[in-house]
Amino acid sequence: MRTVLHLTCSPRGAESYSHIISTELVDALRARHPAATVVTRDLAGAPPGFVDVAFTRAIRDPAAIDASAFAASQVLIAELEAADALVIGTPMHNFTVPAPLKAWIDQIVRIHRSFRSTPSGKVGLLRDRPSFVVIASGGHFTGPSPSGTPAQPDHLRPYLRDILATIGITDLTFITLEGLSRGPEAVATVLAAARARLLPIRRVDAAEARD
Ligand SMILES: Cc1cc2nc3c(=O)[nH]c(=O)nc-3n(C[C@H](O)[C@H](O)[C@H](O)COP(=O)(O)O)c2cc1C
Repeated sequence: MRTVLHLTCSPRGAESYSHIISTELVDALRARHPAATVVTRDLAGAPPGFVDVAFTRAIRDPAAIDASAFAASQVLIAELEAADALVIGTPMHNFTVPAPLKAWIDQIVRIHRSFRSTPSGKVGLLRDRPSFVVIASGGHFTGPSPSGTPAQPDHLRPYLRDILATIGITDLTFITLEGLSRGPEAVATVLAAARARLLPIRRVDAAEARD
């Protein structure tokens, strides 16, 4: 493993729980692959632009392509292509991905570049790679809360699974940090459980360390 792409998506910066645990996950990968380079992109701090009219025209009419229409998209796709592992740290916002992560997705999921359309459906053009998504949420969405509040709708994990599969990324692991609005004790318990899940990632496998 030579390059890890780390995307952080919380407006709360270094205080963000998804930022903290996804950074520790990146550190765990580094412990395993000391020579790996980490490219960090703070999507919340410097969000990708929304797709604009030039982009939508270029998508519809590749013959009349205005290369500048895809300038930002090219950079972000090349950065993803170069990564041997992808780590995303993201909050749940209104049951789904926050806007900066959606803006990144709209730039990197591009027909003829990261996927193609076939009669049997969309086919990804990027190679698969280990990908991890750390999700922080105030409430619970994988099941009811400890006090029995029903799970919230989850439009985050299924959406990321579908959209990343569209471009060829299916080796996906989710680590969820749920119930973070229940106070400091709950936060400590949730972070400890997440850190326990990072231990096997940190463990050095001699064969892999040589990669
Ligand atoms: C605009 C906004 C929308 C949110 N929507 C949800 C939500 O749908 N479900 C939920 O459980 N928590 C929601 N939260 C709470 C955050 O997910 C929670 O504070 C989480 O810790 C944020 O992640 P971070 O610590 O990485 O910043 C929302 C917070 C904000 C600011």
